[in-house]
Amino acid sequence: MSQQRLVFCSTIADSIVAELENKPSTSIFILTDSQSKTFCLPLLQQSETLKNAHVIEVPAGDGSKDVNTLVSIWQYLSENGATRKSLMINLGGGMITDLGGFAASTFKRGMNYVNVPTTLLAMVDAAVGGKTGINFNGLKNEVGVINPAKSVLIDTNFLRTLDMQNLLSGYAEMIKHALISSESELKNIFELDFAQLDYEKLNQLVQSSIYIKEAIVTEDPQEEGVRKALNLGHTIGHAFESYSYQMNKPALHGYAVAWGLMCELFLSYKKLGFPKETLIKVARFVKENYGHFYISCDDYDALYELMLHDKKNTIANCINFSLLSNVGVLSLNQHIDKETIFESLDFFQEMMGM
Ligand SMILES: NC(=O)c1ccc[n+]([C@@H]2O[C@H](COP(=O)([O-])OP(=O)(O)OC[C@H]3O[C@@H](n4cnc5c(N)ncnc54)[C@H](O)[C@@H]3O)[C@@H](O)[C@H]2O)c1
Ligand SMILES: [Zn+2]
Repeated sequence: MSQQRLVFCSTIADSIVAELENKPSTSIFILTDSQSKTFCLPLLQQSETLKNAHVIEVPAGDGSKDVNTLVSIWQYLSENGATRKSLMINLGGGMITDLGGFAASTFKRGMNYVNVPTTLLAMVDAAVGGKTGINFNGLKNEVGVINPAKSVLIDTNFLRTLDMQNLLSGYAEMIKHALISSESELKNIFELDFAQLDYEKLNQLVQSSIYIKEAIVTEDPQEEGVRKALNLGHTIGHAFESYSYQMNKPALHGYAVAWGLMCELFLSYKKLGFPKETLIKVARFVKENYGHFYISCDDYDALYELMLHDKKNTIANCINFSLLSNVGVLSLNQHIDKETIFESLDFFQEMMGM
């Protein structure tokens, strides 16, 4: 699989011009949603080169990551002279990079695309690694391809207009990256103070977080081995996320992942001897920054049922976890019994003080 170029920018308008010089294209299409059009497109279009680019706008929100919106993008490309030599620039959060990456990968059997992520989650996760796709038939990311962007341009200045909830949502993936990487990365993660956000410090943390993900996906682009480490926190996290929707109290993905990390580090402690003091430290950080998700023992069976249906399970009735025996020390394909999973939910409740 060809590798994507990572470009860390101080001014996106200058960096995009330099980037486009290496990618001669017949025409340029910028995909945005209503929010990224308002907050981010003006910064990108400070470059003369993009003043005349086509702009395709879709409504903000994950509802647009669907087949109807995909068809409308194909339609626009088709009616506005896009060719295999055209270029798509995906300017937005993970919804846009997933949707636009898939539209570009399939139009005329594939045109080049560049990601310009504008949310923290998209910078450190969605825009890097080549997974693209749409939700279908009520299922998340049901249809898609793995096809990396030619380049990913990271400018953390975009984060200045992002709300705190979306910042925290992306930060959960950074906690995960630090946990699968090293003690020193984790130490840095705990040092960021969301009450007085230091954007310079955040910029440095974003860069190292992206390098952690990039190294993993380069080693294992098709998720046959080490890439499964990126699922840490996501088995129980996805169950919390789906359950929050069932309960009509929708939680952002990263919040569910943060809560999932608490539970899965408990499983790591219980089964693999992951250090207790690190478990407690992460749990406290999550509680302080992400708040509560109210569950009781009556909810355990429903949560367990959701875990059983996780896409990552390969053996029927067996829940597959990516766990850690220490910070940076992975143990993949761990099958954990129901009783221990319930214990992790007890731990979650205790830590949350419920
Ligand atoms: N492909 C992958 O590997 C991967 C990994 C993780 C998540 N994802 C996908 O990413 C999506 C979630 O991404 P997300 O959290 O970025 O959500 P999102 O793209 O919906 O963005 C969240 C909100 O922030 C707004 N926004 C974007 N940039 C902004 C800015 N700079 N200032 C103010 N508002 C801004 C958006 O318009 C939206 O309303 C999901 O669809 C998920 O499945 C994909
Ligand atoms: Zn995630």
